[in-house]
Amino acid sequence: MQGVTVIDHPLIQHKLSLMRKKETSTKQFRELLNEIGMLICYEVTRDLPMEMIEIETPLAKMMAPSLEGKKLVFAPILRAGMSFLDGMLNLVPSARVAFIGLYRDPKTLKSVEYYFKAPVDIAERLVIVMDPMLATGNSATAAVDMLKDRGVTKLRLMCLLAAPEGLERFTKAHPDVHVWTAAIDSHLNDHGYIVPGLGDAGDRMFGTK
Ligand code: URA
Repeated sequence: MQGVTVIDHPLIQHKLSLMRKKETSTKQFRELLNEIGMLICYEVTRDLPMEMIEIETPLAKMMAPSLEGKKLVFAPILRAGMSFLDGMLNLVPSARVAFIGLYRDPKTLKSVEYYFKAPVDIAERLVIVMDPMLATGNSATAAVDMLKDRGVTKLRLMCLLAAPEGLERFTKAHPDVHVWTAAIDSHLNDHGYIVPGLGDAGDRMFGTK
């Protein structure tokens, strides 16, 4: 599918299978999501622009590659997107964080905004939006709408699992925003859950069910 990268790295696939198992504990689930967040982030940032800067080793001066431009922004969609954050900040400790509060209306499945807090100069930065479950695609689409309304032009979307319906909705609404996911599952059920999926990611992370 155009604009979508499925990351088939064996470590990510193995960890995802562990997360799908219904007997996986809350603690294990959270740890796995944290680890996978780091691994997916590695792929999402693979082509970041670099510049050559002059440095001095103990032996000589040299030109060395360094990340170009302003620090990245990680933008988790609350609450499940938070699960990726620790692992990603371990990898890119200087990244800034934007919090996007959206909840899914259980009847309409539409996204409703309740919180937004971001660096003031977010429009000048590359923003990676994080949502582990791209189900209907409504939350991710709304989150990117919110960011574009605030002037952001460089955006990427990182998820763990996607449904074909969500991918179609998102890529139609935002064809300029590339998506990374570890898997594309079969379909959405009548309650908007990804099948076979892994259940409710937020509930499994925080033990709220
Ligand atoms: N959100 C989840 O946590 N799981 C799904 O399957 C769909 C949306």
